[in-house]
Amino acid sequence: MVPETIKKRVEKLREEIEYHNYRYYVLDQPEISDAEYDRLMRELEKLEEQYPELRSPHSPTQRVGAPPLEAFEIVRHTIPMLSLANAFNEEEAKEFDKRVKRFLGISSDIVYVAEPKLDGLAVELVYENGFFTIGSTRGDGVNGENITQNLKTIRTIPLQLIRKEIPVPERLEVRGEVIMQIKKFEELNRRRKEAGEPLFANPRNAAAGSVRQLDSKITASRPLEIYCYGIGEVRGWTFKTQWEILQTLPKWGLRTNPHIQKCKNIEEVIEYYHEMSERREKLPYEIDGIVIKVDRLDLQARLGEISRSPRWALAFKFQPKQETTKILDIIVQVGRTGVLTPVALMEPVRVGGVEVSRATLHNQDEIDRLDVRVGDTVIIQRAGDVIPEVVQVITSKRKGTEKKFKMPSKCPVCGAEVIREEALHRCIGLDCPAQLKGRIKHFASKRAMDIEGLGTKLTDQLVDKGLVKDVADLYYLKKEDLVALERMADKSAQNIIEAIEKSKNKPLGKFLFALGIRHVGEATAEDLARHFPRLDDFFHLKEEDLMKVEGIGPEVASSIVQFFRDKKNRESIERLKKAGIKLIEPKAKEKGKLAGKTFVFTGTLKSYGRDEARNLVESLGGMTASSVSKKVDFVVVGEDPGSKLEKAKELGIKLLTEEEFKKMIGQ
Ligand code: IVH
Repeated sequence: MVPETIKKRVEKLREEIEYHNYRYYVLDQPEISDAEYDRLMRELEKLEEQYPELRSPHSPTQRVGAPPLEAFEIVRHTIPMLSLANAFNEEEAKEFDKRVKRFLGISSDIVYVAEPKLDGLAVELVYENGFFTIGSTRGDGVNGENITQNLKTIRTIPLQLIRKEIPVPERLEVRGEVIMQIKKFEELNRRRKEAGEPLFANPRNAAAGSVRQLDSKITASRPLEIYCYGIGEVRGWTFKTQWEILQTLPKWGLRTNPHIQKCKNIEEVIEYYHEMSERREKLPYEIDGIVIKVDRLDLQARLGEISRSPRWALAFKFQPKQETTKILDIIVQVGRTGVLTPVALMEPVRVGGVEVSRATLHNQDEIDRLDVRVGDTVIIQRAGDVIPEVVQVITSKRKGTEKKFKMPSKCPVCGAEVIREEALHRCIGLDCPAQLKGRIKHFASKRAMDIEGLGTKLTDQLVDKGLVKDVADLYYLKKEDLVALERMADKSAQNIIEAIEKSKNKPLGKFLFALGIRHVGEATAEDLARHFPRLDDFFHLKEEDLMKVEGIGPEVASSIVQFFRDKKNRESIERLKKAGIKLIEPKAKEKGKLAGKTFVFTGTLKSYGRDEARNLVESLGGMTASSVSKKVDFVVVGEDPGSKLEKAKELGIKLLTEEEFKKMIGQ
């Protein structure tokens, strides 16, 4: 029997933790220190361990860790999840307003709620007596998929509603959009690229793909968030207006978007549309328009729906960052890991203010899905800094002369065989110049050995002229070799030689990353360096040794072992060492304010760029890491922190605000 006092305490702890979670993740206004939060969490964990009968799927300890599913169950929505009719200009928006008035027989102004139209994935969350019980995708609107386990890993989704301010309804179906921030999407893709994994086309696909994982651990590792915008069935509470819904949801701990606005007529809506259209570029997530909703729910009920869209709501879309153009050719680029990427060469067009003449087609599966052919008229799209991509073929413009594209069976650069690995095609040539160029560019890049001035053009020349056959050759280049190249002045040649020389002293982690070992990205490289501080160790390490490092699984371990077993790679590393590469072992310096301390940064800092902050720490004798592990002493939390923050909390690592960090370093 569990004592009543313990039961009460556990309940209280769960409620408290959920409330502080909300203060932290939703409001960004924590009321308690991170250490205090951790204490609550640990107390709960202990009690649940001690009294297993108290364990509950609603406990904040249960966000991650559910076993993978075989398939998703189907969930029928109590009230169908409708879609929205679209408007693309002011006329159409005004037309909508007129239609609403006509239908209702009203001539006075209609009050609307205007909201950003978030570009993610619609989901429904069911709360029974305040507890999150079922979460589902929209599906076809009537039937969705049960993705409860996955949604539980999203920190902005409360596992139980907050009861502090107002009571909770008996049943609440709430609807919202799961999104991924643009920066987090780019970061995710960068890591996937490093690992040779297929990329997501845009943040929406990344969010949708992450939410529909059978293994919720994968979802947990993706930076997802939610904004709630509506309700389904509600029992035990009545609302009169959409505005009231949006004002009430946050009181239960459900996040709503901060850019919502109540508009007293359609003119105000149109003003809001223009404001949001300007604000769009500055938002950290993608929106593709605004949603207008008649505020009064009684009027909504009278308006009803037509062909699966409510008559009371409208999606008023922004000018798309899309354009139409023609595909002149499809070429194939070979990256450093040998992956072949098909690229469309197009008639140049301006998209969102930038001239574009190339677009990525990602891979053969994507080409097949779109059925893109050379000569096709297509719609292309640009979003943020992402490479433009082809989104659709306008098949009605086909003449019959278009040519289908097939990935070559031989590498277009070196002629070696191309093999297929799931969605990817890969050149297996050992001496492929394209791969070599890619490897050199990666080796010299800012986040690796940081050799300034060694860009694409110079790399291409060095490889094409046979001056560099391996990254180690860079360190044997002489100024005369460079001066002989096209458009290379004496001074620039000297600068490059100096930049190469300067790169000789680098932390081991940067070097390991620079080597371009498959599946070893920046974070993994740093983790490796921390565990195995001597480069020579790597020649003897076995898979099982490597797998002791957190986050390194069999695939990564095997890739590392293979890399260091390869004769060519070993020779190359020997030559790098002979050339005078001195790797700084990632041990803390003895002297300096931060000696012996390891820092990780997450989120944006107001006073420093990321590299600047790292350099500061290192200049004071401290170390920096790019991922959180038990060896990290401090995590500095900036604005919009990422998943590292959650990890740090899980491990109970000391968190610092930017102010605290500044104080610590005496600034
Ligand atoms: S209301 C009947 N509000 O747009 C009302 N939807 O085409 C339907 N969306 O599937 C939803 N932001 O994924 C609503 N503020 C917002 C929204 C929004 C994005 C998406 C949602 C829905 C689609 C409708």
